[in-house]
Amino acid sequence: MRNLDQYNITQAVLARLANTPDPRLKQIMTSLVQHLHAFAREVKLTEAEWMKGIEFLTATGHKCDQQRQEFILLSDTLGLSMLTVAMNNDKPAGCTEATVFGPFHVEGAPHYEHGDDVANGASGEPCLVRGSVRGIQGEPIANAVIDVWQADAEGSYDVQRTDLEHAQARGVLRSGADGRFHFQSVVAESYPIPDDGPVGDMLRATARHPWRPAHLHFMIQAPGYETLVTHVFRDGDAYLDSDAVFGVRQSLVADWVKQPDGTTTLDFDFVLNPVKKST
Ligand code: BEZ
Ligand code: FE
Repeated sequence: MRNLDQYNITQAVLARLANTPDPRLKQIMTSLVQHLHAFAREVKLTEAEWMKGIEFLTATGHKCDQQRQEFILLSDTLGLSMLTVAMNNDKPAGCTEATVFGPFHVEGAPHYEHGDDVANGASGEPCLVRGSVRGIQGEPIANAVIDVWQADAEGSYDVQRTDLEHAQARGVLRSGADGRFHFQSVVAESYPIPDDGPVGDMLRATARHPWRPAHLHFMIQAPGYETLVTHVFRDGDAYLDSDAVFGVRQSLVADWVKQPDGTTTLDFDFVLNPVKKST
């Protein structure tokens, strides 16, 4: 096929995909090409602009290493991560809602017993976190694996720090026979997502701030239930309505309560969705 022009090139590219053996890959590639071409036509993309786009994507790739995942930041700040989460986690009423995973989870975090301090030296005001893991009928879920991670008072995750050799403010616990758990940590504070790379440049160019409202991350797994990836957000935070990654859901906002004795507590109960039985 020769002499393709702006009017027939899309069909020519789609025809080239016709023999893709995997039907799902064929569907995704076809749609991607259609939307990319439609986008270029809609904005009348110039060659110089597309070269800038390629330079931006190249810089995004170059920024990635073991500690930094700039493509996740890009997906998050464009709302694509949260859209994907929302489409794939449409749970029955009463279940705890899911939100973005983010780039700072670490496999193999230290295991802790109830009452232990997962902060492990992280800066911040001490805080007792208590909660339960239940099913939708209210049944306690024993032995659920509760993975928790958060930033310290300066807004840094341990993996962002070069001066740390051990995990801080992250850990894995198991719910008790009554579904309950508790641990010590530090009060969550709002923090900016890393903005010293191309995604930060994009935020500044579009007059956006990089801040996330204060939150704790949780991933909860139990046999027979869908894995829940979520946060608990701190009520009253200034960024609840302008989260840089669009992750806030009202049902996940909770109070960090200052007790009369000066300590701070957070209580939050999680409800997991049962895995659908295949018929
Ligand atoms: C986080 O909450 O850890 C996070 C989420 C998305 C982008 C950057 C950080
Ligand atoms: Fe976070």
